[in-house]
Amino acid sequence: MSNEKVVSSNVVWHHATVTRVLREEQNNHRGAILWFTGLSGAGKSTLAHAVEERLHQMECRTFVLDGDNVRNGLCGDLGFSNEDRIENIRRVGELAKLFVEAGVIVLTAFISPFSADRERVRNIAQHGDFFEIYCDSSIEVCEQRDVKGLYKKARQGVIKDFTGISSPYEVPDNPELTVMTGEESLESCVNAVITLLVTRGIAKSN
Ligand code: ADX
Repeated sequence: MSNEKVVSSNVVWHHATVTRVLREEQNNHRGAILWFTGLSGAGKSTLAHAVEERLHQMECRTFVLDGDNVRNGLCGDLGFSNEDRIENIRRVGELAKLFVEAGVIVLTAFISPFSADRERVRNIAQHGDFFEIYCDSSIEVCEQRDVKGLYKKARQGVIKDFTGISSPYEVPDNPELTVMTGEESLESCVNAVITLLVTRGIAKSN
């Protein structure tokens, strides 16, 4: 898959009259992409849902896109080769961008192991809309937790191309936020994300 934008032929963009700005005014907060990245079992989904709960209490409009769930439908045709992971993140990035247009704070929980793919999503988003949040948990901790029993299978060679074992994970160079999900409490990680959003003017504290 090349980096070039893929566009169908003979299509003309239709501009909405209910714009993003109007939606954001109605919502009383800005749209944004909270892009959680990290190893399987690092706690991306747990953190994304906990942040969503807090934002919901703050009366924000939110939605979580989760790797395991999205791979049941939209990306159900994709596996875990490099090419398929690239396509997975490309589709999710485009989807997340639509959510932002809808004025929503979208929280994505995908391993998204390749820096270039995460950068591509950052680049299709408007400046200031994309927040890369690195869920930093060591492979040892993830493997010890092994909530889904996948690390064991990966070590046995039953699952091929497993991130951190037989497929790479590229640590973010310059994320908006790093949370030590292997060490810090969930509440402290949630607080760090909410503080970031309030500081950057995405949501208002209540
Ligand atoms: S990504 O690499 O394309 O971003 P994604 O987040 O959608 O991955 O899916 C990761 C989830 O799929 C993991 O949490 C795990 O439950 C499951 N999974 C199944 N096989 C693999 C594999 N080979 N590598 C990583 N995760 C896998």
